[in-house]
Amino acid sequence: MGFSGGSEVQLLSKMAAGNGHGEDSPYFDGWKAYDSDPFHLTENPDGVIQMGLAENQLSFDLIQDWMAKHPQASICTLEGLDDFKDVAIFQDYHGLPEFRNAVANFMAKVRGNRVKFDPDRIVMSGGATGAHETVAFCLADPGDAFLVPIPYYPGFDRDLRWRTGVQLLPVHSDSSNNFKITMNAMEEAYAKAAAENIRVKGILITNPSNPLGTILDRATLVDLVAFVNSKHIHLVCDEIYAATVFTQPDFVSVAEVIDEVECNRDLIHIVYSLSKDLGLPGFRVGIVYSYNDAVMRCARKMSSFGLVSTQTQRLVAGLLSDDEFVGRYIFESAERLATRHERFTSGLEQVGIGCLESNSGLFLWMDLHKMLKEQSFESEMELWRVVVNEVKLNVSPGQSFHCAEPGWFRVCFANMDDEVVEIALRRIRTFVAKADLAAKKRRCWQNKLNKLSFKSRIFDDVAMSPRSPMPHSPMLRAQN
Ligand SMILES: Cc1ncc(COP(=O)(O)O)c(C=O)c1O
Repeated sequence: MGFSGGSEVQLLSKMAAGNGHGEDSPYFDGWKAYDSDPFHLTENPDGVIQMGLAENQLSFDLIQDWMAKHPQASICTLEGLDDFKDVAIFQDYHGLPEFRNAVANFMAKVRGNRVKFDPDRIVMSGGATGAHETVAFCLADPGDAFLVPIPYYPGFDRDLRWRTGVQLLPVHSDSSNNFKITMNAMEEAYAKAAAENIRVKGILITNPSNPLGTILDRATLVDLVAFVNSKHIHLVCDEIYAATVFTQPDFVSVAEVIDEVECNRDLIHIVYSLSKDLGLPGFRVGIVYSYNDAVMRCARKMSSFGLVSTQTQRLVAGLLSDDEFVGRYIFESAERLATRHERFTSGLEQVGIGCLESNSGLFLWMDLHKMLKEQSFESEMELWRVVVNEVKLNVSPGQSFHCAEPGWFRVCFANMDDEVVEIALRRIRTFVAKADLAAKKRRCWQNKLNKLSFKSRIFDDVAMSPRSPMPHSPMLRAQN
């Protein structure tokens, strides 16, 4: 018998062989399109511009400056060498006390010091990605579910579900009220789960929202806390964009709300990371902050699977203990995000493209529904392919965020410099202008055709011809 007797499915576990990672989605396809033809200002100026990556690179210079002034913060420098041994052999899963203190203080500062965080509740994980899985593992058994308002970050399908067997059930929201979470929708989703015999263990919210770039108001947070209390389920709040709020209204953390209202704190958990607020996704600093002692203890034991390296902890401790730096960073980063947001939204507005009004995040929720051939997700995909392959911009279609309405696209705006922003906007302008022109030509032809006898036969012939003025691209047809 040869070595290739069994199929892959037999050789591997079902989980390993399945598509739990969710890589087969337009969200990741866009990244692949970028990877195969990445834009470069001089080496590949016609390449795909990456606008599908929620990265905060606008204030990186501030961190680099700090690093240059504090070479001892890293053990990879002569100045840090004295501590090399201590750092290299430390592997306690509680984390360095100075790291936990610094992170707890930073979390408070980002929330305007209106609330305090206990360093002993700071549990490390490999980014928010690891933190979400840890929390899901602690709170739910395979088959149990979390309710998640749509549209939501596509990574949740991987992070919460893949290895835990937990389900995510959508809570409806749409543009009729600017995608606000309503308690009616929450009740409906909860009742639907009950009717299907699915045990709901909690609600997962992202505040500020990815992909919407909006924040939850205090009243909604109070309602959500009341909701989970009444059902005796959990509330998991992903607050990893907390410091990206760049205009009023101010961010309100669930930590503030539970200080103000009666509630069972055992039900409240915060997921945080330094990937967005500080723009350090490569450091993999994720935090589980649970008010529930049992969850905290279990999460801490689990952090062995995704420890933040001691070197990183040390560096982060140094960086975040510098109050002057942190204050300046939070302020400056918000200013720069506001400027970039304004540049982008006004650039889109000039060509008649609207976005959901937002005040946070690293992205815009762009409304292209008028450009769809039909109001369907197939048309959304057609349009998305044109944007990626012809306009050469990798934006993410709303359906990858489980959006209920076709025509919305997430556009990341903080992972590129000003020059690339202008190029991206120029491409959008050219594209919209071409679409407008084609629509005008088409209207003109239609008028002419209407005047001719045998109108319908001629119209069909022309429309089928490869030289037809009827645009074949869905973007062009979409001007109706
Ligand atoms: C809402 C949300 N949660 C979690 C993550 C994952 O973050 P991390 O890089 O810290 O794992 C992301 C990344 O885009 C995100 O947008």
